[in-house]
Amino acid sequence: MASPATCRLRCKARLGKEAPVNSKSATKAALSVQIRWMIRRDMAEVLQIERSSFEYHWTEADFLHCLRQRNCIGMVAEYGNRVVGFMIYELFKNRLHILNFAVAPDYRHCGIGNQMVAKLANKLSQQRREFITLDVRETNLQAQIFFRGQGFQATRVLRDHYQDTSEDAYVMQFALHGNENQQRFEASNRIADYEEA
Ligand SMILES: CC(C)(COP(=O)(O)OP(=O)(O)OC[C@H]1O[C@@H](n2cnc3c(N)ncnc32)[C@H](O)[C@@H]1OP(=O)(O)O)[C@@H](O)C(=O)NCCC(=O)NCCS
Repeated sequence: MASPATCRLRCKARLGKEAPVNSKSATKAALSVQIRWMIRRDMAEVLQIERSSFEYHWTEADFLHCLRQRNCIGMVAEYGNRVVGFMIYELFKNRLHILNFAVAPDYRHCGIGNQMVAKLANKLSQQRREFITLDVRETNLQAQIFFRGQGFQATRVLRDHYQDTSEDAYVMQFALHGNENQQRFEASNRIADYEEA
């Protein structure tokens, strides 16, 4: 198993400087992980990733409360014997909604997030669930860039969505049949609104 430090180097070495930034096959080859359902025993490692990824993080009680819901599912990415990423998502009639998702800081940019989103997209079906949605904080630019690279588009703004910072959320959506029919959302933030007023 590569150490976290070599992982980053290895990914960069494999991709090379000329590789396209969003080359999915290239990132996929970078560090192949096993993706499986989350179990109770994963909680300690999941909490560690959660705390190192978010300023306003979920507690263990938040995870347990969420995972007790019938329509809520947890998955983890494992590398060797280590949990290096997790995703919590909800099942709705015609879509899957990502509630929480992070990759351990030392394992980022190794294609793991990409593999987890691909796994989720494989669960969509022609007849039933066609969309993946999520809310992302307006300040979380890295996640917005990541999801855009995965084929998501911003479709809506939820004003003052978060209780902790009263930030806006952007709703981002992936559509199995493409986003062509979606109304295109023009990004605007509070500062833009302020300048227009
Ligand atoms: C968003 C996140 C899950 C991405 O996971 P990851 O395993 O690093 O993603 P990948 O390695 O599959 O990235 C694929 C591509 O997405 C883009 N990308 C990923 N992270 C990025 C960043 N910080 N800045 C810019 N682009 C980024 C890049 O194009 C990247 O390809 P590259 O590494 O060849 O440049 C991870 O950064 C993370 O855990 N962030 C903190 C938690 C978070 O914000 N979660 C989302 C909440 S909505």
